[in-house]
Amino acid sequence: MTEAKDMTFTLETAHAKVSEMIGAIPTALTEYRCPLCGKIFGCYADLKQHYAVEHVGAIPPVTVVLTLNGKSCEVLIEPHWTLKRTLQFRLGLTGAKHMCDKGVCGSCTVIMDGRAVLSCQMLAIECEGKEIQTVEGIAADPKWKPLVDAYCRWDAMQCGYCTPGFLVSAKNLLDKNPNPTVDEINEALSGNICICGTYPRHAQAIREAVEKMSEGAVTNG
Ligand code: FES
Ligand code: FES
Repeated sequence: MTEAKDMTFTLETAHAKVSEMIGAIPTALTEYRCPLCGKIFGCYADLKQHYAVEHVGAIPPVTVVLTLNGKSCEVLIEPHWTLKRTLQFRLGLTGAKHMCDKGVCGSCTVIMDGRAVLSCQMLAIECEGKEIQTVEGIAADPKWKPLVDAYCRWDAMQCGYCTPGFLVSAKNLLDKNPNPTVDEINEALSGNICICGTYPRHAQAIREAVEKMSEGAVTNG
């Protein structure tokens, strides 16, 4: 069995940074940029009118209000954009990773209304009115610090590209089952693929987080 590294990993700065980043996401649009020619308008009606006159036949972008990490955020996107693309290119949230883009690898996992879903397979326009939680929201929540810390202690990553998706799936599992067995952990993470092969360490990290959380290591959140 792999031993956890003897290291003290403090993530306070990272927690503060990610909270700041989430806090800085604007809640409402203040300008409407045409994605075809770059002209900026002060309201959506003017942008639509611009399409009707200058981009005849083209489909105008749409506004969508997403509830992300407990915060409402309005974005202007093209109707075919996935949730993953919207998180990345409109909100600067890059935790949901772009890997297969085909619903196979799990690296883009987010939690939506209590279910782990693949953000590369969801249109953002389908996500209005749903509660979405990303890895950034989990990292900013002190309640889940033991899980993030355990992932770092157990080196449950090599390149780390898949790690956010695993962490989101792990959090979703612990929401439903706060004391999972290794088999239950492996089952819950079976939709996440790691080409570096770090699988055993995820279960070790999650079991350690379970123990820390049950000891009441963190009581807030
Ligand atoms: S990028 Fe979404 S499942 Fe692979
Ligand atoms: S750590 Fe590299 S893909 Fe998982």
